[in-house]
Amino acid sequence: MLNKIGVIGGGNIGGVLVQEIVRRGLAREVGLVDPAPFVNPNDPPERQATAAKQTIAGGKCLDIAEATPVLRMDVRCYGSKDYSALAGAEMVINTAGVPRKARPDGTFPSREELLSINLKVTKQVADGIEAQCPDAMIISIANPLDAIVYTLDNCLNPAKNKLVGMAGVLDSARYCYFVAEAANVSVDNVNAMVLGGHGDTMVPIRSSCLIAGIPVEKFLDAETLAAIETRTRKAGGEVVGLLGIGSAFASPAWSALEMAEAIAYDKRKIMPVCAKLEGEYGVNGLFVGVPAMLGKNGIEEVIELDLTDEEKAAFANSVNAVQKTCNSVDEMLG
Ligand code: APR
Repeated sequence: MLNKIGVIGGGNIGGVLVQEIVRRGLAREVGLVDPAPFVNPNDPPERQATAAKQTIAGGKCLDIAEATPVLRMDVRCYGSKDYSALAGAEMVINTAGVPRKARPDGTFPSREELLSINLKVTKQVADGIEAQCPDAMIISIANPLDAIVYTLDNCLNPAKNKLVGMAGVLDSARYCYFVAEAANVSVDNVNAMVLGGHGDTMVPIRSSCLIAGIPVEKFLDAETLAAIETRTRKAGGEVVGLLGIGSAFASPAWSALEMAEAIAYDKRKIMPVCAKLEGEYGVNGLFVGVPAMLGKNGIEEVIELDLTDEEKAAFANSVNAVQKTCNSVDEMLG
């Protein structure tokens, strides 16, 4: 059990995170920061005064705290509009930023199109972490995932093991779910990894896909698998299109908690995460989805897989896409 986890951003994902941290007793204390509702200087003064007093983070945490006697969980839970809620956290989970949202015509932006707005938010996030909990382990979820983690690294320059992005656990869960559904087997039987960037170029690794330890090709034909892999790459968008009001939130939160638990309980569990590469997979200085072992030190080890030639080419293509978004970060940060 950790002493304190800080959650940044108290929207859909942040709300599920706080609920689950309390329900699972993952830390003795959880602090949530979210500046919403924002004060609009163009509003009449009394409206501004009301917004200044309101706090989504404070309200969500009080709601959850009041249910701790029902859960019989002694977890302190509080939220604030400012970053003081993170003070002393050993781990922070970052969800601050806008999600993808369907437009009135049903189309929706790519994750990369969120960059300019979420970059500004990420700078505030980095300042908050630096001021309140500079040694915390950081798990970041905000999109565009790989570029936001790269930005946090630029701003904070933490040890390589202490900063990790959550995408691969979720993308792999989606891949496994679709495979289990098509093969009509328990989701518990399916193992698979999705690597590369968290965008449309992500790479479902078919050679890692096993059903009860047996290669997936024994159960599903090539055409079905290709369709599942295409659906996996676009799975986030499928949810955005259906929801209409935002993007997936339960599955990203639970996936990040899978990582948080591996670290908090020193599980030394291998899972795909967005990690800084310094030569591994022939990549230098970028954050990309690769298998890594998570334990008490965060990223204990990046695992290098023997990919097929086709998977290597797809991974390289995905790394190029991540590089492009990170080039935009470099330009925007000036
Ligand atoms: N500091 C902290 N929180 C902030 C800040 C900031 N500077 N700026 C905005 N926020 C808050 C918003 O007020 C909002 O409550 O971040 C929260 C984001 O919540 P949602 O809009 O509900 O978005 P959510 O679905 O939780 O997704 C968050 O994760 O998966 C990604 O693409 C997704 O980038 C998005 C992020």
